Amino acid sequence: MARPRLSTSLDTIVVLTGAGISKESGIDTFRDKDGLWSKYDIEEVATIQAFQRNPQKVLDFYNERRASFRSANIRANAAHHALGRLEQEWPGEVIVVTQNIDLLHEEGGSRKVLHMHGQAGKIRCMHCDTIIDSEMELSPASVCANCQGKGGLRPHVVWFGEIPLHMDEIGEALDRCGLFMSIGTSGMVYPAAGFVQQVRIGGVGHTVELNMEPSDGHSLFAERHYGPASEVVPSYVEKILREGW
Ligand code: APR
Repeated sequence: MARPRLSTSLDTIVVLTGAGISKESGIDTFRDKDGLWSKYDIEEVATIQAFQRNPQKVLDFYNERRASFRSANIRANAAHHALGRLEQEWPGEVIVVTQNIDLLHEEGGSRKVLHMHGQAGKIRCMHCDTIIDSEMELSPASVCANCQGKGGLRPHVVWFGEIPLHMDEIGEALDRCGLFMSIGTSGMVYPAAGFVQQVRIGGVGHTVELNMEPSDGHSLFAERHYGPASEVVPSYVEKILREGW
């Protein structure tokens, strides 16, 4: 296992985020006690088989989620803003890799954001593969503006069993990063849960977990801090801007 080296100001920082970073903005996580997967069955709303069986049910689930993200109360919190500040002030590159489909990182000022599980606000046609920005309510009767096909429009999100997006770019960044931060994720869903191992085995980066509680893979991280993201993220960002890691 490569030994992490001390920071240099040109190091790339990769930040993996999960639902926990948006919790204080008013968006439910998935696996906490009150999380989405305690109210919905994954097999009924988040797989291609579910969509084929009952498209209306799957589309309703996402129509509702997308509408809730647009609510005026859902705003970026101090953790999102701290990452925006990090990108602005860190001399090297900062890449946010998020499992979240909300756009709160962008609102918090991050410009380099890879949505590995897709993005609310985009829809995709399964007939012609066109991806468009759209907030339209989807139904099985919706028609693709590009190919005029019916029934193929779906949210541009990655369902269970599908391959996440941007994996080549993410893999390359993990191998060369000087710091890998994992924020607000339970570490239960792969491939994201395996990123820390990739950095430790193949890369040179220091690894840090910032979460409400120890994640599944917490022991793989060289450094860990626990508490609400709106507190632990700004204070860690402050520290690395002051003295590196
Ligand atoms: N601050 C920091 N962490 C928090 C906070 C908070 N305020 N609130 C909750 N957390 C932590 C929880 O302790 C938990 O470890 O955030 C984590 C959320 O975990 P999950 O609900 O499993 O969410 P996530 O890891 O993003 O899930 C991964 O699973 O269902 C899929 O596609 C979905 O992208 C999602 C993926």
